[in-house]
Amino acid sequence: MLVVGNWKMNGNRVENVARLDCLAKGITENLNVQAVVCVPFPYLAQTEQALQATPVGVGVQDVSTQSKGAYTGEVSAAMAAEFGCRYAIVGHSERRAYQFELSDAIALKAKQAVVHGLIPIVCVGETLEERAAGRTADVVTTQVSEILDRLTVEEQEQLVFAYEPIWAIGTGKSASGKEAQEVHACIRALLRSRSSQLANTPLLYGGSVKAARASDIFGQADVDGALVGGASLDANEFIQICLNAGRARCARERTGPITRRAAWQSAP
Ligand code: PGA
Repeated sequence: MLVVGNWKMNGNRVENVARLDCLAKGITENLNVQAVVCVPFPYLAQTEQALQATPVGVGVQDVSTQSKGAYTGEVSAAMAAEFGCRYAIVGHSERRAYQFELSDAIALKAKQAVVHGLIPIVCVGETLEERAAGRTADVVTTQVSEILDRLTVEEQEQLVFAYEPIWAIGTGKSASGKEAQEVHACIRALLRSRSSQLANTPLLYGGSVKAARASDIFGQADVDGALVGGASLDANEFIQICLNAGRARCARERTGPITRRAAWQSAP
């Protein structure tokens, strides 16, 4: 299981010390989960230093579509990699909505991430209106296809997808395990139709994930982890979510084969 905290535009140098310290102490190898925190760019050095002796991975919430040059205000994947980053969220719905990001740019960002050794976590998800109109599967599989179509097979095989229904993000209204599984199964079917390799793509659920309800989500067959926003700001809550994920992974290991969905988790 992969549990990724997305701090969004939160934190400050003083507050981060306690949060990172708590994660460093609370997340150990025995949790059986790959935990990651995606922090704002200015806190990368602080985060790298605080977590370097721990199994917690570091990631960013975005990267540039470009590798270097005259792109004022942008941060490249190469720069993130210099700070020990191994993960990059791309195409989060907040960036799609506020920065008008479309599939062309999101795929370029995923490419940049792969080139510099970061695992791109590509976010997809429907609005409440789209769900109400019965268009969820269509919207989400189109978003996934548009990214796949713009990448090489080798790049595709590095991706992680995060299904984040927009109506569940920051609203306290998480999808139920069943609702998440329905959409994950659609994404899995699409990936499987492309290749048996892609069928093993890790799929995360995101949207108001909290410790109390995490086992319902993690118990689903096609859920391989979570992308956690608000609850990742509370280090103890985040650790509880990781504990739940670790328990779900143990249960799954007893019942099924381990493939890329689980194997990459052993990476530091
Ligand atoms: P949330 O955010 O957990 O606060 O709903 C999830 C996300 O946007 O990644």
